[in-house]
Amino acid sequence: MNKTDFKGSVMLNPVPVVLVTSKNKEGKVNVFTVAWAGTVCTKPPMISISIRPERLSHEYISETREFVINLPSSKLVKRVDFCGVKSGKNIDKIKHLGFTLNEGINVSVPSIAECPVNIECKVKDIIPLGSHDLFTAEVVLNRVDDNLLDEKGKIHFEKADLVAYSHGEYFTLAKKPLGKFGYSVRKKR
Ligand SMILES: Cc1cc2nc3c(=O)[nH]c(=O)nc-3n(C[C@H](O)[C@H](O)[C@H](O)COP(=O)(O)O)c2cc1C
Repeated sequence: MNKTDFKGSVMLNPVPVVLVTSKNKEGKVNVFTVAWAGTVCTKPPMISISIRPERLSHEYISETREFVINLPSSKLVKRVDFCGVKSGKNIDKIKHLGFTLNEGINVSVPSIAECPVNIECKVKDIIPLGSHDLFTAEVVLNRVDDNLLDEKGKIHFEKADLVAYSHGEYFTLAKKPLGKFGYSVRKKR
């Protein structure tokens, strides 16, 4: 098959889109949208987010070295977009969008109650890369809505109706998985 080659951009698609809450030294809370986020280590559990230095969130997170990653469900997608185009420098996005904040458990930063999953993080390193600074952070707690758990305590993320981001557009996930981890090699009984 013929292919057209592109240079100078990153075409990793799709990616998650998340809401990141942060707090500054004075206790002001902000939220912004992040698509450049990823899991980077299992033990210790670590995550990364890349932030442009001009974002207010960059200032807040650099000050207190804590943040919360809030996974939005599809019904929140308009609010997700808003948090990605408006800066906390000009508007209190949390108040404007009517988000409910839950106090942090292992961090001082609150999480967004409307998001079914909240991941509390403590920054380990801030690495300047160019347009963005890479924040690597240890996950100190994951909070999951009880209605995503079955009676055995298994988490059903498919019930959370999470959002993917691909080439500038927001997508919902299919309700049914294409397969399970390892299904390609699993022997049929
Ligand atoms: C879908 C989407 C994804 C985004 N991903 C990032 C990102 O990964 N890193 C970043 O620095 N900005 C990202 N942005 C832009 C910021 O969210 C945006 O500039 C926001 O207004 C910054 O808010 P703040 O100044 O209150 O921190 C994204 C925006 C959108 C809409």
